[in-house]
Order: sequence, then C-alpha cells, then structure tokens
Amino acid sequence: MKIVEIEDPSLKKQITRTVLDNLPEWFGKEDATREYVENAAHYPFIAAEMNGEYVGFYSLREENKDVLDMYVLGVLREYHSGGVGSSLQHYVDDYAKKKGYSYLMVLTLAAAANDSAYLKTRKFYLNMGFFDFYRNDAIFSKDDPCQIMVKRL
Ligand SMILES: CC(C)(COP(=O)(O)OP(=O)(O)OC[C@H]1O[C@@H](n2cnc3c(N)ncnc32)[C@H](O)[C@@H]1OP(=O)(O)O)[C@@H](O)C(=O)NCCC(=O)NCCS
Repeated sequence: MKIVEIEDPSLKKQITRTVLDNLPEWFGKEDATREYVENAAHYPFIAAEMNGEYVGFYSLREENKDVLDMYVLGVLREYHSGGVGSSLQHYVDDYAKKKGYSYLMVLTLAAAANDSAYLKTRKFYLNMGFFDFYRNDAIFSKDDPCQIMVKRL
C-alpha cells in the first residue's frame, strides 16, 4: 500500500465519489455526498493506493492555524479492518504536525445516535487517540447528534 498526496481536483472528486458511494451506511444522503465531493476538490487530499486502485482517502480542511479538520474520509468497504485507515491516519498526523497544526478535529455522529456503523467509526477514532470534545445536536440535524472529536498532535 502507498499513501500519496493528490493534487488534481478532478481525481480528488473521483476518489471521493467512488469511496462514498461504496459506503451507504455512512454516506447515504446524496445531497450531502455531492457537497463533500465538490468541496473535497479544493482541500488537501491524502489517498491510499493499492495495486493501482485508490482504496481510501482523507480530505482535510483548515479550521484555523492551530486546528486541521478531517473534513471527510473513508476506506472502501472490502478493505475495512486491513490497516488502510490507520496508515492514512498516521500519515495525516505527520502531515498536520509538519504543517504546524497542534490539533486534528473531526465531526462525527455521536454515540447517543446508537448507529452501528458510526459506533465502529467512533471506536476507530478512539483507537487513533481522539477524544470527545463537544457534542451539539443542532450541527447536523435533531435526529443526528453531532460529536466533535479532537486529537492533540
Ligand atoms: C473508519 C475507517 C476509515 C477505518 O478504516 P479501516 O481501514 O477499517 O481501519 P483499520 O483497518 O486501520 O483499523 C480498523 C480496525 O482494524 C484493525 N486492524 C488494523 N490492521 C489490521 C490487520 N492488518 N488485520 C486485521 N485487523 C487489523 C484495527 O486494530 C482496528 O480494530 P477495531 O476494528 O477493533 O477498531 C473505515 O472503517 C471507514 O471507511 N468507515 C466508514 C466511513 C467513515 O466512518 N467515515 C468517517 C465518518 S465521520
């Protein structure tokens, strides 16, 4: 597996679309997916490549000079639990440190939603050193409580 930084906006869009379409339990809302795809084209983009295929990515957005937001990320379903996500995360940790950020943040579905897919995601973030920072039920929607998680670099 190779971790690479992608510059080409149309390739960023293509990878984001392919991966998010592959993950309907997490990204089942077309309006939201379209917005992720459009925005990802303009943000720093880190991808995992295996045998010529892009199998996962992180799209990164600067929140402020100290905080880098993991705007949207995913790994193709068939590659889950194979170490792709953690390889991407380690790369992104180093990338963020080199750029001078002190924290990573991510918005995710709160544990209170009791969504089995997002509970797995939450476990991944906890394993990767993230902690619960702020929960707000108005950021996504009333039925989708939002948890902001943070990691000190
Ligand atoms: C969250 C996500 C990016 C993690 O990626 P991943 O490639 O599955 O992550 P890893 O394989 O590195 O780690 C996940 C688990 O596999 C285990 N693992 C890692 N390498 C492994 C290996 N070689 N063999 C077996 N298991 C392994 C890890 O210990 C970890 O264990 P856990 O399931 O008990 O937590 C991925 O599951 C995903 O795309 N989820 C859906 C999209 C999503 O949640 N996006 C974020 C929304 S906020």
